[in-house]
Amino acid sequence: MTNSRARLAAIVLAAGKGTRMKSQKAKVLHEIAGRPLAWYPVKRALELGADPVVVVVGHQGQAVEAALTAALPGAPLRFAVQAEQLGTAHAVLAAKDALAGHAGPVLILSGDTPLLETATLQAVVDARADAKAPLALATMTLDAPTGYGRVVRDRRRRAQRVVEEKDASAKQRAIREVNAGLYCADAAFLWKGLAKVGAKNAQREFYLTDLVAMGAKAKGGAATVGVPAASAAGVNDRAELARAARVLADRRADALMKAGVSIEDPARFDCDEGVEIAADVTIEPGVRLRGRTRLGAGAVIGAGSILVDATIAEDVTVKPYTVIEDATVARGAILGPFSRLRPGSEIGEEAHVGNFVETKKTRLGQGAKANHLSYLGDAVIGARTNVGAGTITCNYDGEKKNETRIGEDAFIGSDSILVAPIAIGDGAYVAAGSTLTDAVPAGALALGRARQTNKEGWVAAHAAARAAAAPAPTPAAGTGGTPGAGAPAEAGGVGGPSTRQAG
Ligand code: UD1
Ligand code: MG
Repeated sequence: MTNSRARLAAIVLAAGKGTRMKSQKAKVLHEIAGRPLAWYPVKRALELGADPVVVVVGHQGQAVEAALTAALPGAPLRFAVQAEQLGTAHAVLAAKDALAGHAGPVLILSGDTPLLETATLQAVVDARADAKAPLALATMTLDAPTGYGRVVRDRRRRAQRVVEEKDASAKQRAIREVNAGLYCADAAFLWKGLAKVGAKNAQREFYLTDLVAMGAKAKGGAATVGVPAASAAGVNDRAELARAARVLADRRADALMKAGVSIEDPARFDCDEGVEIAADVTIEPGVRLRGRTRLGAGAVIGAGSILVDATIAEDVTVKPYTVIEDATVARGAILGPFSRLRPGSEIGEEAHVGNFVETKKTRLGQGAKANHLSYLGDAVIGARTNVGAGTITCNYDGEKKNETRIGEDAFIGSDSILVAPIAIGDGAYVAAGSTLTDAVPAGALALGRARQTNKEGWVAAHAAARAAAAPAPTPAAGTGGTPGAGAPAEAGGVGGPSTRQAG
């Protein structure tokens, strides 16, 4: 019980629609680095130890709840519904029941501020505690404060209140210090204060910012803490979404480079939150790393490659423009350029997959090679087997998928068609250009193509026969002009059509 006094709780406001996104999707569901916008403030509050974190949802509330729960399994999250968006004070009030019994400080954040850093949240929590104030708010000083609530201070520079842009006088609009929308309030003060907030303002909304004036009049006042604009900027439209994504990607690149990852061009680094990268990995420009991708030490990821939920072991080389989805690649394998690994592909140690080779649900054994132009689907291919250029596993019979099994040390000649289900034994050879439908025993050579026949002297004989059969050359046609429309009828060279035309 004594502990719960000091415990921190948090409220994240995420009920708004986000009109300026011009989207069917609620703003906080738009993603940066594979996470919905609202994930960021929620995650930062959790990192600070906030328990619980109450997310106020409204627009597409169920989808927001589902997305956050899935991305933060086991986290102390609660959800409160604000059915109608009547303003930020009304939104915070919607979280009251979810915080019944909580007596400590309450951090309040917006769901659309993905750039907030944990240290910034801590500074606001500390500012309230240090000033023994009922409320602390983060402020930032902007050259272009348009759209934000302005912080009005008295002659002793104490924060008096926040005036929203739409309610501000010309003089107040010139104030460059603005409300960042990040607060820490004492729970008792918060609920008592919110009960008194009205909607007599330009927007007919219940403003959370009215609490600042109430705090200013209370003992301890309304504490403020200046925070960098880059940290508290909100996302309201798609341009701001893209810019925020860039800022987060830069931060991630910096942290990774400090941890020993080589990123050749950090300005073109694109990596989801859930990706893990070991030291001594090299990432070339234009790579996209998505989902739960894991990169082992020493791996090199070539330019333009896209990896989604890929597990890449140590010292793997992924040459440029390779696309990998839900596949695992063992140590020392070499992929690409232009390979495509589809779900369920398992590439063995030091195996090679070359250009224009597509694999799906296929296991390629240790040291096996498929270097050029192949489709390998539903196949198990043994260690050291060589799959020649143009080999196709015909895994689909129009109804179901069938398996191709190839043993170890086998050799599949170029342009072979393997009609599944089919098994090819250890060490077997398949002649180039074969179409195989039956099993090949270990050590056998399979030829599945028409036998070649050569016809000696055929070309010259063919040419002579052609010359003899050709009709005698006809004399060149007369100079009568074009028998088309507009040509005079009498000028028609060959009678027929133009005569009829003239008639
Ligand atoms: C708010 C502040 C303003 C501050 C700015 C910082 C108020 C009245 N004004 O303005 O002083 O400078 O943030 O970005 O608080 N929300 C709900 N339910 C509602 C209304 C809003 O959940 O009924 C959510 C929104 O989804 C959003 C957040 O609260 O995540 C902020 O609301 P928004 O309408 O963007 O407030 P601003 O006008 O930006
Ligand atoms: Mg806003």
